[in-house]
Amino acid sequence: MPVRTEQSADYRTVMGNFPTGVVVVSGLADGTPVGLTVQSFMSLSLDPPMILLSVDRKSTSWPLIAATGKFAVNVMAADQQAVALTFAKSGTDKFAEMRWAPGTETGVPLIEGSHTWIEAQVADTFDGGDHVIITADVLSMQLAQDERSEPLVFFRSSFRQLGTPDL
Ligand SMILES: Cc1cc2nc3c(=O)[nH]c(=O)nc-3n(C[C@H](O)[C@H](O)[C@H](O)COP(=O)(O)O)c2cc1C
Repeated sequence: MPVRTEQSADYRTVMGNFPTGVVVVSGLADGTPVGLTVQSFMSLSLDPPMILLSVDRKSTSWPLIAATGKFAVNVMAADQQAVALTFAKSGTDKFAEMRWAPGTETGVPLIEGSHTWIEAQVADTFDGGDHVIITADVLSMQLAQDERSEPLVFFRSSFRQLGTPDL
């Protein structure tokens, strides 16, 4: 059923009121680093450890990553807003100014300064409207060395940081 314009705007507004973290999904396409910014990322299974994300069918980077099946989730730190914006621009050389190191399990790019990193292997993909739902097995994970590191937050179309103490 087609979605009316105002319905679509309401949907964006309502979903924009659900705060999320921000990640960059990165991989290698014939040895060249590629990636895109994603907020639809979550933990799926504890045993075995699995993650879930969804990617727009219009993404140009995801099909390149999917062809290898291996990728990293770089959880953006509070000071990585510029990185998140860089990876949200399609058709640009997103890694031109990026410092990264290859992941130990897969060699995919782990972006320097991220809050946490996960290396993963695609397990399955499912249709999800105009998006593809991806489930993946966790191969490795790392916490930022700086224990004061805080995550970047996306809420009401803006980047935020956690500014308040625990409730
Ligand atoms: C905060 C934020 C969250 C985003 N979340 C998603 C997402 O969950 N899934 C998605 O496909 N695109 C998401 N995007 C949009 C992609 O990053 C954007 O379409 C990007 O240009 C795709 O690049 P590509 O064509 O190189 O794959 C998000 C963008 C921003 C700024």
